[in-house]
Amino acid sequence: MSVILAIESSCDETSVAICNNGKITANVIANQTIHQNYGGVIPELASRVHQQNIVPVIQQALIDAKVSKKDINAVAFTRGPGLLGSLLVGVSFAKSFALALDLPLIAINHMHAHILAHFIDDPKPSFPFLCLTVSGGHTQIVLVKDYFDMEIVGQTLDDAAGEAFDKTAKILNLPYPGGPLIDLHARSGDPLAFKFPEPQIKDLNYSFSGLKTAILYFIRAQEKLNPDFITERLDDICASVQFSIVNILLNKLKRAAQLYGIKEIAIAGGVSANTGLRSGLELRAKELGWRVYVPGFEYCTDNAAMIAVAGHFKFMSGEFVGQDIAPASRMEFNG
Ligand code: KG4
Ligand code: ZN
Repeated sequence: MSVILAIESSCDETSVAICNNGKITANVIANQTIHQNYGGVIPELASRVHQQNIVPVIQQALIDAKVSKKDINAVAFTRGPGLLGSLLVGVSFAKSFALALDLPLIAINHMHAHILAHFIDDPKPSFPFLCLTVSGGHTQIVLVKDYFDMEIVGQTLDDAAGEAFDKTAKILNLPYPGGPLIDLHARSGDPLAFKFPEPQIKDLNYSFSGLKTAILYFIRAQEKLNPDFITERLDDICASVQFSIVNILLNKLKRAAQLYGIKEIAIAGGVSANTGLRSGLELRAKELGWRVYVPGFEYCTDNAAMIAVAGHFKFMSGEFVGQDIAPASRMEFNG
């Protein structure tokens, strides 16, 4: 019997989840809208808002899961990677909560948790599988051999896929975070209206900084000819950019699948909510005989349910940390 309370505060979502014997019974997420005014996450503001949100979010999670503090058996928390000030709020709260109730502490790597979100609901992938983890800070192809036995086999050398979406959105004067808005406009646009170059990067690695520059120069050149270019062609621009990013992501994933001879393929992280990526993955699955796993929308972007399920697996194997644990903003993938 295990009731685990999990806290996620690595960036700009304050989230608390409760997991009862591996089943999620609460997943409360407080989004921080304040950053929209600044075109990106302001770390100092993010930590202040976490500080305001953490207690009400915990209280709501306890209500949703219909449990009281005394029913909890362990506290799991995101140790890193992420913004230091944001992590400090979640880590300090988890430590105080565990100290007050004399509970064991479980430290979770945020990037492992994105992948382990696949073990919240059915169908679950079987080991070994490949997971394309695409978020605002990371783009990785991970070979997942077991719950905590994972190896990065490819990753971005510069910008993350989420950054490529968000930076394009900024060029198009769309508010932060731009990824979901590009996705929305792309649904009414022509993905083949404009073509952007695919970077020629060795091995299974990615690069998105060249694409961002190509988009910027393209838009500037078009605006010289027609100052209303962005407004008039917004849907087509979004569809074409999304098509390029998705193709870059899936082409390397296909190479990884061939190289490792694996047909169990998953996607995870904020960008895995992208409808173009989801439908592109389904197409490749048909073409290449892949079995694909896509998390529910609520488990793509940052959430504590993924921390809770990862915490459940560590609880089962008795992997606890002491009260001297500190956040690790640049936490190593296997650290
Ligand atoms: O995993 P996540 O919530 O936070 C990080 O750990 O970074 O990912 C956030 C990223 C942002 O860049 C956001 O624009 C992107 O995920 N994102 C999307 C979509 N939903 C979120 N990008 C494209 N299409 C979406 N539907
Ligand atoms: Zn994340």
